[in-house]
Amino acid sequence: NCRLVVLISGRGSNMQTIVNTVRTQGLPAEVCAVIANKANASGLEWAHAHGIQAKLVAHRDYATRTEFDQALAQAIDAYRPDYVLLAGFMRVLTPEFVEHFNGRLLNIHPSLLPAFPGLHTHQQALATGVQWHGCTVHFVTPVLDHGPIVAQGAVPVLADDTPDTLAERVLGVEHHLYAQVVRWLAEGRVSLDAMQRVHVRGVASRSFAI
Ligand code: GAR
Repeated sequence: NCRLVVLISGRGSNMQTIVNTVRTQGLPAEVCAVIANKANASGLEWAHAHGIQAKLVAHRDYATRTEFDQALAQAIDAYRPDYVLLAGFMRVLTPEFVEHFNGRLLNIHPSLLPAFPGLHTHQQALATGVQWHGCTVHFVTPVLDHGPIVAQGAVPVLADDTPDTLAERVLGVEHHLYAQVVRWLAEGRVSLDAMQRVHVRGVASRSFAI
């Protein structure tokens, strides 16, 4: 079984989709734990209520980013995951942490990278006037929102969109995208080559649109 640990900071709708996908589609995978960095992350309760190990490693309890990342890495390692999936995890991770999970750490970002790294991506998209927006699942590297792209999902921007309506449309495709990537990971299709390029065996298209 492909062992997964999911990191969240909030409601965890992507995490819920990942759990449901693994469970309902009979994938050779298991969500071993959900870990949050904030006590009020409502996704933790959901995970616990659904029989998944739900752990809090609160960044507030640590004096430095390095100490927090070390505690987080230790908590994750206890589950011996094949992959660590960031799903709305809102803390920047140290290069040491990223290096420790090199090739096993993935993130979903709510934009079509390399456009709009960082925060407020929907606001940025509207301000820029792009007509396509979306989300990206990528391997995490020390450079924020910058790693090798596994797959992307696109949505149209509509004339009367607000950051909230656009965020909701993007979230819909996020769930599709992460579920698909988890299927590929579980099936052992995903690899990174020496040039840090992603290959997904037997898959012709890694783009989605709704
Ligand atoms: C998602 O839109 C995710 O892409 C975004 O936060 C939201 C979490 O929602 N992530 C980031 O902005 C990462 N910097 P969720 O908790 O319901 O999955």
